[in-house]
Amino acid sequence: MERLINVSNRLPITIGKTVKKSSGGLIAALEGMGEKYDLRWIGWTGGVISDADRQREIIRDLDENYNCSPIFLSRKEINGYYNNFSNSSLWPLLHYMTTYSRYDEEWFEIYRTVNQYFAEAVADQAQEEDIIWIHDYHLMLLPSLLRQKNRHFTIGYFLHTPFPSYEVFRCHPNREELLRGLLGADLIGFHTFGYLRHFRSTVLRVLGEESEMNYIAHENHLTRLGVYPIGINAAKFLQELQSPRYFRKLKEYQQVYRGKKVVLGVERLDYTKGIPRRMEAIERFLSSYPQRDNIVFILISVPSREDVSEYRNLLENIERKVSRINGKYSSIKNVPIHFINKSIDFSDLCTLYSLADVAIVTPLIDGMNLVAKEYLACQQENEGVLILSEFAGAAQELFNAIIVNPYNINQVAQSIHEALDLSGEEKKELIEPMRRRVLSHDARYWAETFIRDLAAGRQKEDGIRYDTQMIALDAIKPFVTADKIGLFLDYDGTLCEIKPQPRDAYPHAEIKEIFALLEQHQNIDVYLISGRKKEDMDRWFLIYPFTLIAEHGYYYRPAGRAEWQVLDEKTDLSWKEQIIDILRHYGEMTPGSSVEEKTSSVVWHYRRADPEFGSWKAHQLVGELYEMLSNLPVEIHHGKKIVEVSSTQVNKGRAVEHFIQRHDYDAVLCAGDDETDESMFRLSHAEIVSIKIGTGDTQAKYRVASPRKLRGYLKKALKRQRSVQSLREV
Ligand code: UDP
Ligand code: G6P
Repeated sequence: MERLINVSNRLPITIGKTVKKSSGGLIAALEGMGEKYDLRWIGWTGGVISDADRQREIIRDLDENYNCSPIFLSRKEINGYYNNFSNSSLWPLLHYMTTYSRYDEEWFEIYRTVNQYFAEAVADQAQEEDIIWIHDYHLMLLPSLLRQKNRHFTIGYFLHTPFPSYEVFRCHPNREELLRGLLGADLIGFHTFGYLRHFRSTVLRVLGEESEMNYIAHENHLTRLGVYPIGINAAKFLQELQSPRYFRKLKEYQQVYRGKKVVLGVERLDYTKGIPRRMEAIERFLSSYPQRDNIVFILISVPSREDVSEYRNLLENIERKVSRINGKYSSIKNVPIHFINKSIDFSDLCTLYSLADVAIVTPLIDGMNLVAKEYLACQQENEGVLILSEFAGAAQELFNAIIVNPYNINQVAQSIHEALDLSGEEKKELIEPMRRRVLSHDARYWAETFIRDLAAGRQKEDGIRYDTQMIALDAIKPFVTADKIGLFLDYDGTLCEIKPQPRDAYPHAEIKEIFALLEQHQNIDVYLISGRKKEDMDRWFLIYPFTLIAEHGYYYRPAGRAEWQVLDEKTDLSWKEQIIDILRHYGEMTPGSSVEEKTSSVVWHYRRADPEFGSWKAHQLVGELYEMLSNLPVEIHHGKKIVEVSSTQVNKGRAVEHFIQRHDYDAVLCAGDDETDESMFRLSHAEIVSIKIGTGDTQAKYRVASPRKLRGYLKKALKRQRSVQSLREV
């Protein structure tokens, strides 16, 4: 049986004097997976357990009886990691409550340390063939920490909260590290497409990583993205609704609320749930509802995160509101709001769900909201009405609810009237399709689809492979053993990482190290072949004995010579003036973009523009250029954050051809990262080994993920070359 290791902040058990199984959506969802997988769970024990004997006892008990491995935390760690960083910094931010989000660097240090404990605990137990599934915002760093431990682990991550817009997430001081942490996963799941969209745009704007709708390819790794709305443990609710206990309670509560309409609200006492605003809507409703004595609002607020001050303040605020409304609208016969500030047992919950005429679920924002789904599942006798906030993830699925904007007090008050006025037939029509959906798309369906996609990713890599091994074994052979070698290296994005400012991409220590190694190889002719101007190339590379090729092959300067030469004097450049004005126009319309004029081409750069606006403008420009320039001898390249118009007579392939015809190389290696390098890759000489750096379509024979990987490969190849050469000399 395949092993599924679940990793979440809390374990599915509660440890008091004895150990008890807990309940909850996630636990129930995964319990069902026990038939198919050998289930293991890793998480915090809850509370502080510091006594070493007790810890040992718990480890043994949990292992033998519950398939769980506990993480023990000290009081300081619980505060830093759980109360502070997770619940006072991340939770409010993920829920758009920026003003509630607090921060202290020490909290993050502790959060990182605790994530590290989790990484160690998982790595201790996991094998490469296991499936590791990490849950929620408490463990955002864990995917990458685990990936660092073993890059072959299969790691899924599911975010149970919303993922907010970039404008909100960017406020977090640790935004880069948190995002990089998540990108260690093979698959990241969200409840809704909106959260996925926000995540992609945040990754683009914070990390500069481009992505496709369903994956992000970044250095050395591919992270898939998907939408998996969580469901409820339908079977458990349906089973309870068959039990004698349920029927007994239903009868009893029906007596209590006889002749009254019941409106039910259930949630953790959390500021995201919109409880004070709902109170205002209830008050407005009561002020305009004549049969006030016949309606009761049962509001269950389960205490939550009481060590966090915002939660304590919220309770005081709600209690004041309840007592004011009850004081104003109670009569001898009725008290309108029944406020219960404790958790209730499962059969009571099912009975209330079943009994309530209306459920009022009005969070200001909520990742999913299971209460809405549970209510629908339990409506087997009646046709209840669901009032649902448009800001709950569940609103993306439950279209037949009365959808409200929880900030619009009038609308929410009005929706209660509307719900009470619906006829039996109308209510039935509304609820039936929703109930069917909730019962079929349950928690088990959610877990199965996520795990299926996670496991499928292991076999298939969406056509993108990052395989330095392949190069090491295969491509290195001719390169290492050849006597005379031509080495054609593009610079930006190939040898050196792309920088926001081209002038910052100067050769750093590792590049200099490679150049020094190359200098020692008399049998290798090095060509640095770039789209840059000749002046740029002189500034950085003049000191090396390499042939420099500038402007994609228009100019070249042979090793050791002072003068630059034009490769083909007959190149027609008469078209240039015509288009430079268009590029300047785009430069003015697009803040952050600029125009560069070279001898043989003109370039519009938009790296510093807003990424989405820049890319939209670039597509517009390319379209316009194609229409205008169809009769001219020019090529249009839409490269990495550039649009370049150059002569059809100039390209890197022609330049490479020019040099290999004049030398008798046993092996030629070309490496490049963008479309302008494809002309080298298209050359059909058998001795050419071509390497593409990064993602995207290519005709190169091999691919490496990043400049860093290429540098590693070059160093390795050069060292082997050297030892082969010295063996020969001996
Ligand atoms: N719930 C509970 N005890 C109670 C009342 C409710 O455990 O006294 C459960 C409820 O059945 C639901 C969960 O708490 O499964 C709340 O999940 P939801 O997605 O609505 O909100 P969250 O608490 O995750 O923000
Ligand atoms: C939300 C979070 C869960 C969390 C639950 C209860 O649903 O997404 O990860 O377990 O609230 O909160 P607590 O802090 O009590 O675990």
